[in-house]
Amino acid sequence: MGVRKILGLAAGLILTVSIFTVGYSFAKEFPLKEGTSCTTEKCHAKMTEKEYVHGALEDGSCTDCHEMEDEGVHKFTFSSEGKELCMGCHEDILEGKHVHSAFEDGTCTDCHDPHASDYPNHLVANPRGELCYTCHDGAGFEGASVHKPVADGECVSCHSPHASDQEYQLKASVPDLCFGCHGEEKGKGKRKVKVASSLKKLYENQDLPLHPPFADGECLECHNPHSSGNPILLASKGPVTNFASYDEGNYQLCFNCHEDLRDSLSQTKAPGETNFRNGGTNLHYLHVVEKGRTCRTCHDPHGTKNEKLIRNLIPFGRKSLRMRYSITETGGSCAPPCHFQKKYDRENPVVNKR
Ligand code: HEC
Ligand code: HEC
Ligand code: HEC
Ligand code: HEC
Ligand code: HEC
Ligand code: HEC
Ligand code: HEC
Ligand code: HEC
Ligand code: HEC
Repeated sequence: MGVRKILGLAAGLILTVSIFTVGYSFAKEFPLKEGTSCTTEKCHAKMTEKEYVHGALEDGSCTDCHEMEDEGVHKFTFSSEGKELCMGCHEDILEGKHVHSAFEDGTCTDCHDPHASDYPNHLVANPRGELCYTCHDGAGFEGASVHKPVADGECVSCHSPHASDQEYQLKASVPDLCFGCHGEEKGKGKRKVKVASSLKKLYENQDLPLHPPFADGECLECHNPHSSGNPILLASKGPVTNFASYDEGNYQLCFNCHEDLRDSLSQTKAPGETNFRNGGTNLHYLHVVEKGRTCRTCHDPHGTKNEKLIRNLIPFGRKSLRMRYSITETGGSCAPPCHFQKKYDRENPVVNKR
């Protein structure tokens, strides 16, 4: 550090100290007059000129938080320190097994202005998309697909900013959290929001042969809650279109749990390794590898009323046509729009008409 800089700093320090002392003695001569308040005096009038004024000082009662250190001297201490200052009046705010770590070293004023602010709940920044990113890196919430409430910055639709009984201060546990939005239709007429409303009904119908991870409410086995490098928030690459030339990596999501199937797709004939076969012909191989149909063409990842998650409807051009699947002890049949009815049987291979 140069001599000049040191001198400069020293001068600055002296100046600051003297301003402070001058300010102090200046204030000393003007103690708060009896019968006046801090905000009706010209001094702090601006403090409450914002849209949202804290209930604690609406009637000018500054002294609930600021205590005069010395009678007649304009110098104050806080009536309590840190978050305790607020907890005196908002005692229940941190109740819950899981408390936001923001409180470990921070205080309430990291997020709230104790006096007034332009945002509801006296927040120091816009709660939509700004506030949480002051401490959490926004990069973790980007990707090829971003969940709508995350893109809208509505973190508090899923998390309590303070505390809750669920891990990660979630407002409800998964899947109830998800069905809060992906449930009933909300609103009326044009405003009606229909967010995959059938999913909740499907989930509640536990008598159906649903996909076990869906039936168990393990949405997060397959979807990220915030964003993903894959479409549809998928946790790993998975089938999202109906046609794709075969690449093992594109089905990582399914192979995470169905390793056997991955192995059986690497060979033409795999007796015993899949039930979708006609005699020794592996029909998974035929459809997925040879014809480039994805799992999604035939299976719904959540479940349907059919056995083996087979879809009722199959997209065909712009329409959706019926799959007409039925299953037997040793095989099954279907009559999708792609071909006439075809049967398969593991024990007595069927010769289908062309
Ligand atoms: C609910 C508690 C609370 C009330 C009521 C309150 N304050 Fe404060 N005040 C604080 C806290 C906490 C800080 C420190 C803010 C910080 O560190 O960001 C503060 C800081 C200040 C400061 C210095 C920093 C600044 O923001 O300018 C002034 C001046 C002040 N308050 C004046 C007032 C006046 C005047 C009133 C009444 C109209 C009042 N306060 C009412 C809690 C309160
Ligand atoms: C002396 C009591 C008191 C203290 C201390 C106090 N508050 Fe408040 N606070 C209130 C009152 C009264 C309301 C208005 C309640 C209402 O509208 O339901 C309020 C409302 C709020 C609200 C907004 C609620 C809403 O619905 O708009 C927030 C946020 C808040 N306080 C935060 C704080 C923070 C942060 C502190 C500490 C810096 C604090 N309060 C300290 C009394 C207090
Ligand atoms: C990480 C940021 C953050 C911190 C730290 C924080 N709050 Fe909040 N607070 C919020 C947000 C965001 C909302 C609005 C929640 C919503 O819209 O659902 C809120 C709402 C509130 C409300 C009104 C609604 C309610 O939940 O009752 C009160 C009162 C409140 N906070 C008090 C406090 C107190 C007291 C502290 C310290 C113990 C504190 N807050 C610390 C972000 C925070
Ligand atoms: C003042 C800084 C600060 C702000 C603002 C803040 N956080 Fe945090 N948050 C932290 C810290 C520190 C941690 C703990 C370290 C970590 O896990 O990254 C944390 C952790 C979390 C966690 C994980 C909790 C756990 O159990 O692992 C969630 C969820 C969270 N914050 C949500 C939010 C939301 C939602 C907002 C906006 C309303 C927000 N945070 C704003 C500081 C902050
Ligand atoms: C649709 C609901 C939802 C929304 C909206 C949401 N989260 Fe989360 N968040 C979750 C769930 C669920 C988890 C738990 C993930 C797990 O169990 O692996 C989580 C975990 C977290 C964690 C801890 C684990 C991690 O990924 O670091 C943080 C921090 C977090 N969320 C912050 C935020 C912030 C900041 C926002 C807003 C930008 C936000 N969340 C929006 C549902 C949501
Ligand atoms: C606060 C409301 C809300 C909550 C809670 C919520 N979602 Fe969503 N989700 C939406 C909205 C809105 C969309 C966009 C729907 C649309 O565009 O039709 C969406 C879309 C999705 C999509 C499709 C994304 C895409 O790119 O097509 C998936 C998958 C999803 N949500 C899964 C979940 C899971 C899993 C949970 C629980 C962890 C959950 N959601 C909780 C509101 C929510
Ligand atoms: C086994 C993996 C898996 C599980 C478990 C799972 N999903 Fe999905 N989900 C997918 C796949 C793959 C897609 C995209 C392909 C499709 O729609 O056929 C998808 C699509 C979605 C969509 C968008 C399309 C639609 O159907 O509206 C939403 C919303 C969704 N899932 C929500 C959920 C929720 C909520 C849960 C938990 C109750 C859940 N998922 C459980 C794999 C899964
Ligand atoms: C989190 C683990 C998990 C993931 C991921 C997963 N599954 Fe499953 N799946 C299971 C379990 C468990 C069963 C029950 C039968 C079993 O143990 O094989 C099952 C069964 C099935 C069945 C047969 C249903 C029946 O009645 O026997 C089909 C079809 C299926 N899954 C397709 C898929 C597809 C397609 C994907 C990728 C989109 C996928 N699975 C991803 C766990 C998973
Ligand atoms: C052409 C339609 C079709 C396609 C494409 C398809 N499946 Fe299947 N799959 C079936 C049928 C039909 C069954 C039921 C076989 C039986 O039990 O008779 C089945 C059964 C299964 C089973 C149960 C175990 C077994 O092998 O019998 C799993 C797991 C499975 N499929 C996963 C997948 C995955 C993962 C993909 C994508 C890589 C996929 N399927 C692609 C039609 C298809």
